[in-house]
Amino acid sequence: MTTRMGGKGNGESTLLRNYLPLLVACLAWSAQAEDIVLDPKKTGGDTVALIIFPGSELASDQYTSTAEAIQDAASSSIWVGIVDAASSTQFDSAIPRILASMSAKGMSASKTFYASHSPAESALLQDYLSASIEEKSQPDGLVLLGSFVLRKYRTSSGGFRLPTLTLGGDADGLCRVTRIAEAFAVDKGSSSVIVLPGVSHMQFASGAASSVIQKHDLKPEVSEASAHSSIGRFVAAFLDSNREELAAGSSATATVLDPIVEAMRQEGSQKLNALCNSDFPTSSACNYPKWPDASLDPLPVPKPDPMPPSDCICGSSFVEENAQKLMARFDLSPTPSASFFSKDSFHDVSDTHPFHLPHIFNDCEDPASCLLNTTSVTMPIYEDGDPWHRESYVDDGLTPISAKEFRTKLKSRQAMWQAAGFSDDITKDIEKTDGSLEICKSINQASYDWALSSASPAAKAKFSSVGEPYVFVDDVVAKIGVTGPEWIKDAMVYKRTSSGMTVQSWTFKTENTNHGHVPYIVTAGYHYCKILSPFRAMEWITVDGLRLHGSLASETVTLDGKNNATFSSRKMLQ
Ligand SMILES: *[C@@H]1O[C@H](CO)[C@@H](O)[C@H](O)[C@H]1NC(C)=O
Ligand SMILES: *[C@@H]1O[C@H](CO)[C@@H](O)[C@H](O)[C@H]1NC(C)=O
Repeated sequence: MTTRMGGKGNGESTLLRNYLPLLVACLAWSAQAEDIVLDPKKTGGDTVALIIFPGSELASDQYTSTAEAIQDAASSSIWVGIVDAASSTQFDSAIPRILASMSAKGMSASKTFYASHSPAESALLQDYLSASIEEKSQPDGLVLLGSFVLRKYRTSSGGFRLPTLTLGGDADGLCRVTRIAEAFAVDKGSSSVIVLPGVSHMQFASGAASSVIQKHDLKPEVSEASAHSSIGRFVAAFLDSNREELAAGSSATATVLDPIVEAMRQEGSQKLNALCNSDFPTSSACNYPKWPDASLDPLPVPKPDPMPPSDCICGSSFVEENAQKLMARFDLSPTPSASFFSKDSFHDVSDTHPFHLPHIFNDCEDPASCLLNTTSVTMPIYEDGDPWHRESYVDDGLTPISAKEFRTKLKSRQAMWQAAGFSDDITKDIEKTDGSLEICKSINQASYDWALSSASPAAKAKFSSVGEPYVFVDDVVAKIGVTGPEWIKDAMVYKRTSSGMTVQSWTFKTENTNHGHVPYIVTAGYHYCKILSPFRAMEWITVDGLRLHGSLASETVTLDGKNNATFSSRKMLQ
C-alpha cells in the first residue's frame, strides 16, 4: 500500500510540500492498517470476494466469527477481507489495499461483494458508491448488516442500484426493526430484506460492545452462535445467488414485519408514499370534499412542485375508521342505528389559504335512517422531519419513523347528534355531549389496543414480558392563549411512572352554534384531539417500549428473579 501512496505523489510536488506532514502521518498510520484476510474454507465452485467494513466503533477482528459463519454456509469458496476498523471509511485507499492483499495471497475472484455493518457506516459506503459510479470499482452486490438502503438512494423501483441484501435483527436497538419494515415494504426490485428473530445489533459482530452499542442496543434473545449461523445462512445464500433460500428468509420475515407494515398503512405513513395535498387533488381515491375551501386572505397557495403522485396517501385510515366513530358514539345514543361515513385528509391544521376544517355535509330528520357525510383533517407530526418534505428526513435508524402525534380536527359529538336529528333536550348541553375527558383518550386507547392485538406473536410475548406499557390518562383541555387556541402546539404528554408510560391527549371543543348553520368564520361544532398513531404504538411495542427493561443499558432483564423477565416464546440467553 505504501507503493501506491508514493505513486500518487508523483508530479504533485507542490501538493506534496504543502501536505507533507499530513502525508507522513497518513503513511505511518496506513502502514499500521490491520486488515484481516481469511482464506476460503472450501475449494471448488465459484470464487467470491467479500469485503467487510466494520461499523459502530468495533474492531476488525470482531467480525471474524461472522465471516467464518458465512464461509461455512456458502457453497462458493469465499475469500473474506475485513477492513482495518480505523480506516474502514477511507474507501478510496482501503478497497484497493485490501483487494491487493487478497490477490497477493492467491485470490482470483469472479465476483466481489461489500458488506457494511451499522447505519452510519453503511451510509458512508452508499455515499461513496453513489458519488461517481464510473470511476470507482463497483462491487457485484451489497450486504447491509443492521443497516438499510438510504431513502435518498432508493431507485424508482425501490432498493439500491446494486443487488442488495438487507439483514436486520428484531432486537436491534440501533437499526430499528420498523426501519427494516419500511425497507421490506418499499425496497423491492433487486433487494432482499430479511429480519433475524431475536438478533441484536451487536450480534452482527462479536466480543465487547462499543459504547454506542452499549448505549442503544437491545438485549439479544438468541445466542451469538445462533445469530452468526443465521447471518451466515442468508449472506451465503446471497453470495451464492441461492434464490430459494432467500425466498424462505423473506417469507419468515413477513411474519415479523407484516404487522408493522400494516401499522404503517393504518397511520398513512409517508415512509410508504408521499402524502396528498387536498388543495391540489392528484389521487381520485381521496374523493375528499373540501370545506370551507375559502380563505380570508385572497393570496393563492402555490401549487406543490413536484405534485404528489397519483397514488399518494389521502389521510389516515385509522383516523377515518375509528376517530370520528369514537367521537360520535351513536351506540350510546337513543338511536344507535344513526350512522355516518367519514373521509380523513392529511393537511396542515394551521393552513388558512384556504382553511381546512372538518365538516358534516348533510342533516337528517330521523336518526334511525340517518347516514351523515363527514370529513376530518389530520396533521401528522414526525420527529425525523417535516410531513410534507420527505426528502429532508433524518435516516439514521435510531430516530423513530412513525408520527409522534396526529393533530386531528373532528366534528364534535354535539354536532354529530344534532345533524343526525336528535332532539335538543339531549344535545343542547355541550358539557353533557362533549365534556368527558375520556373521548380523545378512548381514541388513543383504541390505537394502542389495535397495535397490541396486531403485533406478531413474538413481539406480543416480548412486550408483555419486558415492555413498558402505555397507560392512558384523561384528556386535558387546551387553553385559549393570547394568540388563539393552544391546542395546535400542545404536544401529547408522555410521563414515565411506576405503572408505565402515561399518555395524555389535549382536547379542544366549540359549541355547535345554530346546529352548525353558521358562516365558516364562526367556529361551531368542533372537537379536536391529539391522537396516537397506531404505527407509533406499534413502534413502541417493537422497539422503544423495550428500552427501559430490555436494553443493554438496563440490566434488569435476566433469566430469573422477581422483576426479572423471562420470555415465554423465545428464551433469553444473554
Ligand atoms: C359528501 O358531500 C360532498 C359535498 O356535498 C359531496 O361532494 C360528496 O359526493 C358526498 N359524498 C357522498 C358519498 O355522498
Ligand atoms: C435479577 O436477577 C439477577 C441475577 O439473577 C439478580 O442479581 C437481581 O437481584 C434480580 N433482580 C430482581 C429485581 O429480582
